[in-house]
Amino acid sequence: MTGDHSVVETNRLTKQYPGVTALDALSLEIRPGITGVVGVNGAGKSTLIKILLGLLPPTSGSVRVLGMDPQESARDIRALVGYMPEHDCLPADVTAADFVLHMATMSGLPRQASRERASDVLRHVGLDEERHRAMGGYSTGMKQRAKLAQALVHDPALVFLDEPTSGLDPRARDDMLELIARVHADFGISVIVTSHLLGELERTADRIVVLDSGRLLRASSTSDLTQTTGTVLVEVLGPAGSDRLLGQALLDRGISAWPVGSDTEVQVDGPEVLDVIRDVAVDLDLGLVRLQERRHTLDEVFLPPPSSSPALAAHPGGHP
Ligand SMILES: Nc1ncnc2c1ncn2[C@@H]1O[C@H](COP(=O)(O)OP(=O)(O)OP(=O)(O)O)[C@@H](O)[C@H]1O
Ligand SMILES: [Mg+2]
Repeated sequence: MTGDHSVVETNRLTKQYPGVTALDALSLEIRPGITGVVGVNGAGKSTLIKILLGLLPPTSGSVRVLGMDPQESARDIRALVGYMPEHDCLPADVTAADFVLHMATMSGLPRQASRERASDVLRHVGLDEERHRAMGGYSTGMKQRAKLAQALVHDPALVFLDEPTSGLDPRARDDMLELIARVHADFGISVIVTSHLLGELERTADRIVVLDSGRLLRASSTSDLTQTTGTVLVEVLGPAGSDRLLGQALLDRGISAWPVGSDTEVQVDGPEVLDVIRDVAVDLDLGLVRLQERRHTLDEVFLPPPSSSPALAAHPGGHP
């Protein structure tokens, strides 16, 4: 571990393929926890991970992973780091149980410890009876779970998950994001997870790094990115039109308010505004069902101007 607690550091990291600059003087510092690396197709996410694992040499610049240089200490790094690759890496005629056990023994764990650890991670990812079936017959969701299990089996300090939600339906995607959150919460493993969907990592990642054409577009904590809008959403219970009565009463008191569906969004310029909302609701004999601080969604923060990359704004789940 590095003394200053960063798990990954890059300094002017550049990767040049023939005719393509995949990473362009990228300087990053990633701390323990869950970090999302977001960018459109071709932004350089997978290239970055492969360099951090020591699978590819950088063209220029420097990299530290857990305080080590991946080109010099690839073996040491791979003992401490797990990797879930983007593409299918599972042998079709092997069962998940055998594969994950094999990966555990390969990592140097004794036989008995390997069995226990393989069994634990397979349970963690939710592969139960299926673990004894050949992986060639797995659904995409089951394959992603098996890929995650093999990345965790040697109890690494850090895992790289390259597009773990790729190909999953919305339900399976939420399950995978929940599993990823628990990798950190239950096992204390730091996670670096890539996605081309900005919105999907909002609830999972502590910090978000946005890559664009191999350059750093932004790096911040998720809560900074989605900082409060300075408004609250108010929902009241009462006869039809209550929301409009409430909005008008607030406007009469000089407070900006506007309808959002059947709720009322209210500008909060100071804490006294919340008291006024309560007083007004009482005066009008309305039940105050909800008073919710509104935060920006990541998609709102990064909504690009009409001409630029639309994929960063796209989010199939949608946001209210
Ligand atoms: N082996 C290679 N040879 C040549 N060019 C490559 C190679 N690998 C990647 N590239 C190029 O480098 C750039 C970054 O690719 P990379 O795979 O790192 O992006 P990515 O962000 O992971 O994209 P995706 O979301 O599609 O997985 C792209 O322009 C890609 O075409
Ligand atoms: Mg990729």
